[in-house]
Amino acid sequence: MPTVFVLNGPNLNLLGRREPDIYGRDSLEDIAARCREAGRRLGLDIAFRQTNSEGELVGWIQEAIEAAAALVVNAGAYTHTSVAVLDALRAFPGPIVEVHLSNPHRREAFRARSYVSLAADGVICGFGATGYLLALEAVAERLRDRREETEPEA
Ligand code: DQA
Repeated sequence: MPTVFVLNGPNLNLLGRREPDIYGRDSLEDIAARCREAGRRLGLDIAFRQTNSEGELVGWIQEAIEAAAALVVNAGAYTHTSVAVLDALRAFPGPIVEVHLSNPHRREAFRARSYVSLAADGVICGFGATGYLLALEAVAERLRDRREETEPEA
């Protein structure tokens, strides 16, 4: 079963309590549970993690090069600032989906710029926790397509 790292950046540990009008009332643990359930349905092994540290996030992306088939990333505020996260993502060979709970394009101008988007295959934003599930659907399809390309027909 392919492993998918679902990586969350700074302040996402506060979900449910942090600006609920923008980010919703689900906690990060609620979202993790929904991702694991989707993983069971889609045949994906989900490793769901959160960190407030840029260096740890970079380390996990590097770890994914060996340990994961695909990445789902909500880098929080590092989305808009981190060349280090972008460089690490560029070293990852598998599919990458960028997720945001809110729609950054409807918010402050500085949120419209995403370093993560420069490395991502696709972006899902503005659908709250559902965005993570849509991202896992997209990843499952990409991995299926890749398998079909590499496996000889039966
Ligand atoms: C966010 C959007 C970012 O602009 C913000 O810094 C976050 C959360 C989102 O999920 O909507 O921390 O990534």
